[in-house]
Amino acid sequence: MDRYNSAESLVCTLSPQGPVSCIRPMAAHNAAQYFLENFPGHTLYAVKTNPHPYILETLYESGVNQFDVASLSEVALVRKNIPKAEINFLHPVKNRAAIERAYYDYNVRTFAFDSVAELEKISASTNHSKDLTLLMRLSVSNRYAAHSLTGKFGVPSATAITLLKYAAKRCERLGICFHVGSQCLDPTAYKIALQKIKKITCAANISIDIIDVGGGFPSLYPGQEPAPLADYFSEIETALTEISLLNNCEVWCEPGRALVAETGSIIVHVDARKNDLLYINDGTYGGLFDAGLLGFRYPVKCLRKSGSADLKPFIFYGPTCDSLDVMPGPFMLPSDISEGDYIEIGQTGAYSSALRTPFNGFDKLQEAILEDAPMISMYNSAESATSALNAGKL
Ligand SMILES: Cc1ncc(COP(=O)(O)O)c(C=O)c1O
Repeated sequence: MDRYNSAESLVCTLSPQGPVSCIRPMAAHNAAQYFLENFPGHTLYAVKTNPHPYILETLYESGVNQFDVASLSEVALVRKNIPKAEINFLHPVKNRAAIERAYYDYNVRTFAFDSVAELEKISASTNHSKDLTLLMRLSVSNRYAAHSLTGKFGVPSATAITLLKYAAKRCERLGICFHVGSQCLDPTAYKIALQKIKKITCAANISIDIIDVGGGFPSLYPGQEPAPLADYFSEIETALTEISLLNNCEVWCEPGRALVAETGSIIVHVDARKNDLLYINDGTYGGLFDAGLLGFRYPVKCLRKSGSADLKPFIFYGPTCDSLDVMPGPFMLPSDISEGDYIEIGQTGAYSSALRTPFNGFDKLQEAILEDAPMISMYNSAESATSALNAGKL
């Protein structure tokens, strides 16, 4: 991949006709360092968020050596790129063949479950091996999340104790995991979930070896300004002190978005303008899914040397024929923006290229590395990022 010192210099050099997906490795490194130094436990990376080998390698080189995967393909991808990685198969519903191959071919020992049927499946597919680490996915409130994951997975409190006792006989190490929902905007969510674990572990009188607080840690987007990550970590640390944990109980987290959102920018071209509608060459079937279906606003910047400094709100349409290919924003851009201009769309490192499809033939994508800082950051200049967001500049 070619390197550029900014999106502007990339556009000057390439005048790209298709979208360019950019990676900022320093942003992944900074985020990893922050989690490794401040989270009160082990940090795993949720591979689904952005499985690009360059991201996996950057995180590994920065010290993240445990990975949360959701499929056999992700198991194989991580093993191929990082042979020494510790891989944890934390999707609560898996196919038997996937469990078997993960265990026998890829040396995976950690699996999640949320039912008796899944436990029995894991047991049968590993020939009733006892060297397993099994994590029960608990159902918890997702009320503070911008993107709720509730409903699909998770054991309700009422059946948790029976299931934990059943699992304890089938593994070497037993854990509980949960997910408060993606882009969780209030640290209280983790406290509420951990209080639920406290009640269950007291009533079950069972030793828990791992508590995995999941993902959900937020990133910065215009219109969504979460508390600093330090507040999330201290809320978790305080809530953990109230649970009687074994001395050797490990605490894990498995962030996706917070580790990699800042690593991505997409450079798009304006193909047409109709009043406040901009027709750009990437969209919800490409790298901008969250801007469409979830209505996320990304920070944007028009990449040109001169023109109006007045900003006005725009709606984006993507390149396909489908009317779902709309990103309502609003995105603040120069009032005289027109066909032929380029836009940098920031904070696209999470759930962006991972969701890209070739729908309608829009499958040409260039990739590049950018060496400058992300447009906004939770890690370095959080204060200036927040003031830029508040001033409506992004
Ligand atoms: C099991 C699991 N862990 C971690 C994550 C990462 O979540 P986030 O990107 O919100 O941190 C997800 C996302 O869906 C998940 O399903």
